[in-house]
Amino acid sequence: MDFSLTRDQKMIRDVVYEFAQQEIAPKAAYIDKSGEFPAEIMKKLADMDLMGLPFPEQYGGAGADYISYCLALEEITRACASTGITYEAHISLGCAPIYLFGSEEQKKKYLTMLCSGESIGSFGLTEPEAGTDAGGTKTTAVLDGDTWVINGGKCFITNASYAKFVTITAVTDKSRGKRGISAILVPTDTAGFTIRASYEKMGLHGSNTTELFFDDVRVPKENLVGKENEGFKQFLQVLDGGRIAIGAMAVGIAQACLDASLKYAQERVQFGQSISKFQAIQFKLADMAANVELARLMYLKAAWLKDNDKPCTKEASIAKLFASETATKAALEAIQIHGGYGYMKEFPVERYLRDAKLLEIGEGTSEVQRMVIARLLGC
Ligand code: CAA
Repeated sequence: MDFSLTRDQKMIRDVVYEFAQQEIAPKAAYIDKSGEFPAEIMKKLADMDLMGLPFPEQYGGAGADYISYCLALEEITRACASTGITYEAHISLGCAPIYLFGSEEQKKKYLTMLCSGESIGSFGLTEPEAGTDAGGTKTTAVLDGDTWVINGGKCFITNASYAKFVTITAVTDKSRGKRGISAILVPTDTAGFTIRASYEKMGLHGSNTTELFFDDVRVPKENLVGKENEGFKQFLQVLDGGRIAIGAMAVGIAQACLDASLKYAQERVQFGQSISKFQAIQFKLADMAANVELARLMYLKAAWLKDNDKPCTKEASIAKLFASETATKAALEAIQIHGGYGYMKEFPVERYLRDAKLLEIGEGTSEVQRMVIARLLGC
């Protein structure tokens, strides 16, 4: 068994680390406070050829593997989770459905647009009545000649305000329940398509989260992505990749908690010595380091399985579950180590907690991950 990264994987991680620490981390507090979308950073990521990192060069991607993408995502999120989730939703949810299920024409037209950074990627599955029960989709798409007519709405959708199109799910055959859902690509400037940014979130303030409304939205029949009525299964497959990536993001936040806590513990003096000399603090740091390492190993294993076209549903869920719960715990401990300062906005750790919490919810709650794991155990 070889645990070492390849030269390319190391190079991508190191280049992104340098960029993230120099260009993203100094802006993270401002992005959190202002809620400003990290558009400039996305442009720079496009200049660095990172917007299509794990996709083939023929579509404008960088031809790297999923491991490299996850390593890059970990480093971006370690610097700023709002930027991390924007990048994650772009690649894992926006680009992936087109890459995995789109026709050659769709890949040439739409995937290329995403890989170049001309558009940010966005994906619409969740609805007010179809969250964990994603198969309960109510949005409908009815064929009228050669046109889909879409009605309904989506909620909690990432990146849509900055996307030229969103790939959504809609019921195309009511009689088949969740097996009658299809994926359809909808340009955001289509008449009847409204995007509303109305949420006030606990964290990830720089990430664009919106509601989508479809009122007789008409798109050509050929905007169907993949096979008709297979949209739900396709999206669950897309979410396997997304969950590995959320694992990598969570490791980024947990690592940032460890970085900040270790630094603070070494600098802070109480009772005449650095608090890093006290066993109570040492044990917290040691537990944090152990869990960061374990969570990282798990997302890397799941990404390796994906890169090698092996089943990875269970491992993706384990990676997301363990890493996201690790990130929240690490953030709580980081605040505790910082004491009163940890509760203040002057230090980044309270932001880490607010940002980490979403990772136990988005792309399937911890409970969904436990359901998936239990089912795959044979329950
Ligand atoms: N890959 C491929 N196919 C899969 C699959 C996978 N990982 N998991 C299940 N399937 C297949 C099943 O085999 C089944 O196939 P058949 O129709 O041939 O029998 C079909 O998909 C339906 O599967 P289930 O019967 O298991 O589905 P379910 O209704 O019981 O739901 C669930 C299972 C795990 C709860 C699922 O609904 C789920 O993951 N829910 C959470 C959804 C979620 O993560 N939402 C967040 C989306 S993010 C978003 O929208 C916004 C954004 O911008 C971030």
